Amino acid sequence: MKINGTPYRSVWVDEKDGWSVHIFDQTRLPFALDILQLTTPGQVAHAIKTMQVRGAPLIGAVAAYGLALALRTDSSDTALEQQAAMLAATRPTAINLAWAIERMLNHLRPLPPSQRADAAYAEAGRICDEDAAQNEAIGLHGLELLRTLAAQRGKNDRINILTHCNAGWIATVDWGTALAPIYMAHDEGLNVHVWVDETRPRNQGAALTAWELGSHGVPHTVIADNAGGHLMQHGLVDMVIVGTDRVTRNADVANKIGTYLKALAARDNNVPFWVALPSTTIDWRVADGMREIPIEERSEAEITHIHGRDDSGQISRVQITPDGSKAANPAFDVTPARLVTGLITEKGCCAATPDGLLSLFPERG
Ligand code: MRU
Repeated sequence: MKINGTPYRSVWVDEKDGWSVHIFDQTRLPFALDILQLTTPGQVAHAIKTMQVRGAPLIGAVAAYGLALALRTDSSDTALEQQAAMLAATRPTAINLAWAIERMLNHLRPLPPSQRADAAYAEAGRICDEDAAQNEAIGLHGLELLRTLAAQRGKNDRINILTHCNAGWIATVDWGTALAPIYMAHDEGLNVHVWVDETRPRNQGAALTAWELGSHGVPHTVIADNAGGHLMQHGLVDMVIVGTDRVTRNADVANKIGTYLKALAARDNNVPFWVALPSTTIDWRVADGMREIPIEERSEAEITHIHGRDDSGQISRVQITPDGSKAANPAFDVTPARLVTGLITEKGCCAATPDGLLSLFPERG
């Protein structure tokens, strides 16, 4: 996607710069567009843990490059296994991270150590290219849904889409998942407008989704997380589209905390609730999302404090809870498949059922 007319991906390697890995520091957006240069696997792990880089597909891609960085200094069997385990342990919920590390290990283990670093860069590059292509395909399949919606109403009627968290290009290598169809619809002239859940506690919606949509010229309005149900009751939401961090083979969906409540409100108001994902987000080993998906618990400070820009233009962090109040911070929840209208994947759209998934991925049967 483009920033001020220049095309970017969310991660790239600079060969001139000693094969270092570059990302945007997402903790600085929307107020600053800082590029971070990562040169060690430790820096990559830190960037993932602190969410300088985030979003399920992107943390997988960046971790893959983290392994390539590690192999430049030590490409032994021991180092390969240790560094892979260290990177895989950075965040627990998004399956793309474990998937990318496992793919790298399967590719690198049989190779002689002297060939591993080059092979790791090449494989991480393929992971990135495939993610960008899958998300573009998701965009095209989701676009069909939006075209159908547009055809059902007056040509100039606004289509209101609600999204939660950030599942845009900055959460993937390119295009995004939930936002890809929206970008394409906007580009072909459909009258789309996005309700952007702010997404407490870290405000990925208010900070990142709003920034992405605004940069692309997509009309959008940021809302408090609790406003979605009210808007649905008043007929102001035509469709919900969210991304996901892990989908089980039964089609249960883990996504940013609060997604489940949106799905409940959508069901109560007959609003279609779609989930967009590349197949790298499907965990075929897991069936029951509520029981089997590990939910990341993050720091209390993300609840008790909030970041923002003050009136003097300084980025600051302020406390919003009384001294001594405890806070709990589960970072994801699971929406049961029965509340999901359908899944949008790179292979097409399907029902959120085991058979629906197998119809697109029969090799998994
Ligand atoms: O904690 P985050 O910001 O990494 O969580 C991200 C999400 O929940 C996204 O919705 C999900 O990763 C889909 S990204 C295309």
